[in-house]
Amino acid sequence: MKNVGFIGWRGMVGSVLMQRMAQERDFDAIRPVFFSTSQHGQAAPTVGGQSGTLQDACDIEALKALDIIVTCQGGDYTNTIYPKLRESGWQGYWIDAASSLRMKDDAVIILDPVNQRVIDAALNRGVKTFVGGNCTVSLMLMSLGGLFAENLVDWVSVSTYQAASGGGARHMRELLVQMGMLHASVAHELQNPASAILDIERNVTELTRSGTLPTDNFGVPLAGSLIPWIDKQLDNGQSREEWKGQAETNKILGAAQPVVVDGLCVRVGALRCHSQSFMLKLKKDVSVASVEQLLASHNDWVKVVPNDRELTMRELTPAAVTGTLTTPVGRLRKLNMGPEYLSAFTVGDQLLWGAAEPLRRMLRQLA
Ligand code: HSE
Repeated sequence: MKNVGFIGWRGMVGSVLMQRMAQERDFDAIRPVFFSTSQHGQAAPTVGGQSGTLQDACDIEALKALDIIVTCQGGDYTNTIYPKLRESGWQGYWIDAASSLRMKDDAVIILDPVNQRVIDAALNRGVKTFVGGNCTVSLMLMSLGGLFAENLVDWVSVSTYQAASGGGARHMRELLVQMGMLHASVAHELQNPASAILDIERNVTELTRSGTLPTDNFGVPLAGSLIPWIDKQLDNGQSREEWKGQAETNKILGAAQPVVVDGLCVRVGALRCHSQSFMLKLKKDVSVASVEQLLASHNDWVKVVPNDRELTMRELTPAAVTGTLTTPVGRLRKLNMGPEYLSAFTVGDQLLWGAAEPLRRMLRQLA
């Protein structure tokens, strides 16, 4: 059995990873060692009847004893520890949720239902570093993978509707506190059906602009609003999140001819599902029925939602998809721009296929 170290297992992505590993009995196949950056020496979680103490996540000697390291600790940890560990001669497998190593030549972005061939080739070459992709990119490819696999996509234009969880646990809390404060400010008036809605709206808007809502994490109010910028600003006018769309998609696919992907990334008040609205330019006119068939047969998690009002409202929303591994795609129709132009809308749980699940499955392959 392989010795597998877990770092950052208590955070939001790490906790989802632990839950999924327990559900799938992944711990049966490994000898887990739990690490902490701040609480080493304290009791480690009990897994499969085994318990122990937390090891020091910065102790290179302790890390060197591992066959596989799985980290959800974040980019700063990776940037500090990974180079030291590799320089020390450690030859083990590093599986990472953070973006730091994603675009390195000796790292592969993992999304096995989409790029198992890329992963297999990397394992054969002796690649030892495997990194989960950006959540919007992974969720797009889980839903639209059938079109990419058939090399039918000329370009992709996307608008995202990204959940608070993408920012982190504190961002989710901040959104909910903002929502609560806005509601509380007008709760009394809302109970009276005769109260004037524009007065209620004015109170909410005034509170939103008053500077009293907590905004330490998002920088501005998100509840009742949205933020059309995610991550850093690049010199070309893109946000870093937008830049990842094309760069990571093509790296995941190992595409010989890169597909152009661009669009705007927007934070909305959803909790943990990222939604995306696409315009795809296909390389040829393919019927919607054929598109649906290609998409539906691509992997076990994608689900085509027929372009029907009732079904769309019931099945293609964060409320319906949160907490599930399903990556539905719907609103499939040809656009007025011409027969090669297709619309699509996808929803996916940002913490499952967008973060923890590809790591869990890579570990399973290695163990
Ligand atoms: N960058 C993503 C977001 C999170 O902010 O929503 C995960 O890749």
